[in-house]
Amino acid sequence: MDSDISNLTQFKDHFDIINDELYKVFDSQVPLVQEIGRHALLGHGKRLRPLIFVLSCQLCNYHGEDVYQLSTIFEYIHTASLLHDDVLDNAEIRRNKPSANQVWGNHAAVLEGDFLVSKALAIAIRAGNIPFMAKITEATTLMTEGQILELAHTDDWGISRELHMEIITSKTAMLISTACACGAIISDAESEIAESLTQFGLNVGIAFQLIDDLLDYTSSQEVLGKPVGKDLREGKVTLPLIYTLTQLETTEKKRLEDLFVNHQPTDDDFRDIIDLVRGKGAVDRIREEAQLYVEDAINCLDIFPDSATKKDLIILSQHIIDRKK
Ligand code: FPP
Ligand code: MG
Repeated sequence: MDSDISNLTQFKDHFDIINDELYKVFDSQVPLVQEIGRHALLGHGKRLRPLIFVLSCQLCNYHGEDVYQLSTIFEYIHTASLLHDDVLDNAEIRRNKPSANQVWGNHAAVLEGDFLVSKALAIAIRAGNIPFMAKITEATTLMTEGQILELAHTDDWGISRELHMEIITSKTAMLISTACACGAIISDAESEIAESLTQFGLNVGIAFQLIDDLLDYTSSQEVLGKPVGKDLREGKVTLPLIYTLTQLETTEKKRLEDLFVNHQPTDDDFRDIIDLVRGKGAVDRIREEAQLYVEDAINCLDIFPDSATKKDLIILSQHIIDRKK
């Protein structure tokens, strides 16, 4: 199976139209806005969020001509959040290219993010549907809260699994869930249907971030398009490390915490901790957990009769686990 969601051939027609629509936002008179936007948005994105919105609309029998245009809302918000995230993380690489903050500086990257959020909201308003708008603004609020919660727990080696799950649910799963819920809302689907799609997206989103955090310990920069081991370098204690720490003696845990929080760990120290995580069973445990979230997601689709679109959503969910980047 291809490792990149955007190369799943059965979705090629959707991706082509989504990518055409994404181009249309750059009607800014300011050349730098266009330049940064093209760099950040066009090229290597997975397009998971617009695709899952389009499939959710199809599942709810929505036939509006604006479906692809509306789908871009979720990619614009996602890209804006990555522009901001890269500033927060002081990141150098994103999607196999220098990140926008590296090329144009933090100020321009933050402002480009603001531009994309504004464009996303302008497109959402055109739908003329208040619950649709409300769902989107709820998602951006929760994403920001999740990101601030994560910031507040930088270098927190005592962070619990529960708190970590709350962070990833807000910062990542919420937007994917919202893309699915909005497909139901724009289709005027019954509330039970909307709720099932909301839960489907939430489970898919959690699985997605679990794998994202895992790949940071198991992959390579060549495959991932961003450096590995970067979560810990950014002071983020994610599930692979949380699980590994539970298996260490208290003194060893304290020694590592002191080294990574209070001293300057070397590249060898980072390599050692990556090896430790790989060797303590956390990888298999998290893969199994992510698989369970995907199974829960698929169960949420039981309410829908069998169809080609339902099958597509099942394939897409499973791909979240199998992806290599
Ligand atoms: C990447 O996670 C970041 C996110 C999923 C969310 C970022 C959210 C914000 C900055 C706040 C909301 C902003 C807007 C514009 C609504 P990661 O750091 O775990 O992944 P990475 O390894 O790819 O950087
Ligand atoms: Mg980041």
